Amino acid sequence: MAGDKATRARVWVLEPDATKAADLCHRLQFLSYEPIVVDAATSELDGDGIAVLVGDASAAPDVANSASAIRGRHPYLPFICLSELPESGSGPSWKVGLPLSRSQLQRLLGRAERYHGRERRQRITGTSRAILEVRELIEQVADFDTNVLITGQSGTGKELVAKTIHELSARSDGPFVPINCGAIPAELLESELFGHEKGAFTGAVSARQGRFELAEGGTLFLDEIGEMSMDMQVKLLRVLQERTFERVGSNKLQTCNVRIIAATHVDLPLAVSEGRFREDLFYRLNVFPIEMPPLRRRITDLPQLVNELLVTQGGANAGELRISPSALAVLSAYPWPGNIRELSNLVERLAIVKPTGTIELADIPDRYKTFEPADADAPPTDAAVALRMGEANLKSYLQQVEQELISQAMEASGGVVAQAARLLSMQRTTLVEKISKYQLAS
Ligand SMILES: Nc1ncnc2c1ncn2[C@@H]1O[C@H](COP(=O)(O)OP(=O)(O)O)[C@@H](O)[C@H]1O
Ligand SMILES: [Mg+2]
Repeated sequence: MAGDKATRARVWVLEPDATKAADLCHRLQFLSYEPIVVDAATSELDGDGIAVLVGDASAAPDVANSASAIRGRHPYLPFICLSELPESGSGPSWKVGLPLSRSQLQRLLGRAERYHGRERRQRITGTSRAILEVRELIEQVADFDTNVLITGQSGTGKELVAKTIHELSARSDGPFVPINCGAIPAELLESELFGHEKGAFTGAVSARQGRFELAEGGTLFLDEIGEMSMDMQVKLLRVLQERTFERVGSNKLQTCNVRIIAATHVDLPLAVSEGRFREDLFYRLNVFPIEMPPLRRRITDLPQLVNELLVTQGGANAGELRISPSALAVLSAYPWPGNIRELSNLVERLAIVKPTGTIELADIPDRYKTFEPADADAPPTDAAVALRMGEANLKSYLQQVEQELISQAMEASGGVVAQAARLLSMQRTTLVEKISKYQLAS
């Protein structure tokens, strides 16, 4: 396909400086892409392209404005940026390291091409600092064949992370094969992973491919790796080291080309120290660790998650289902031990009992209302409890949002309080008070 002018993929170039734009166009042409320079006043792109290459936006503020406008109209178009762009929308945005290298540009354009036409959104919902970090790690590691270990409590979205890595990787046209190592009895796991020959054991009436074979050219997701028996750990380690395996009941070595992503809710270093998990296997898997935060540590993402879940879990009228601020506030104060899975189940249930209209505080099951009344003297009426609950939880929710914003501003300003205060449009003294109140000083 490369070199064939008719099928060259188009790339938009957003760079007002003519000399710099010409340089970017040259580089794109060299990589067999068709560059089209767009004006900084452009908001809508004409025709089909795979990405927008954004020049130095730090020097030209209208570039950043135009980038957000384009993003608004084309939310799933990847942006490849030579400088930091303000976070906007949910589309992918990848920063290029400078000096601009051909291989990096090529890699990112390849990734954009894989995105193209699939309307693939960044599936890890949220804009909390914790989740932005996770997204960045996913984007860093996706293009490499590195083993990834995803840790975090149950229901935090580990499998979703694994899938996203696969979809962003050059293996995205290959299979994504998950296997839950904890759900399969130890004596069956070997044949599940490596397959077996006919007659290999009682019940093996025909030969069967294992998950390694099924995942050839793609990604194998080893879920609940912490539950794997020591025996199997040895066998897995061998495959990871040698990239070869044998079906059960066969002595024919097969090579495999599979990327491994593992996940667990178990504290593996602890399991290693207690002799339940092999240290060498741990190091093999832990080449690139990603830790999924529990929902209560990213509670500012709750409104977005709920709204998205309402759309996916709601039935025919999904688009019209709403949730009231007080109901949301109550949910924000709940600790969510079951994380997003628990939230998803609740939303599914709410969407059944309330298929249209707005989910109100009264619709939320009692066990999510963890508020203890501040004034316990008089037994309050139901309505008063509900109101106060809404108020108290709204307050705690707003405080969490405030803490999150302060942390982000402090980070963005490298810990300089005066600068963070400016970012937050807040008096320096007020910010100092809040930092000490929330104990945010690092
Ligand atoms: N960021 C997210 N946005 C929407 N749904 C999510 C998100 N993260 C997880 N989920 C949903 O929550 C449930 C649990 O996620 P899963 O990846 O199975 O968690 P884990 O593997 O950590 O137990 C799934 O139904 C998944 O689709
Ligand atoms: Mg899981």
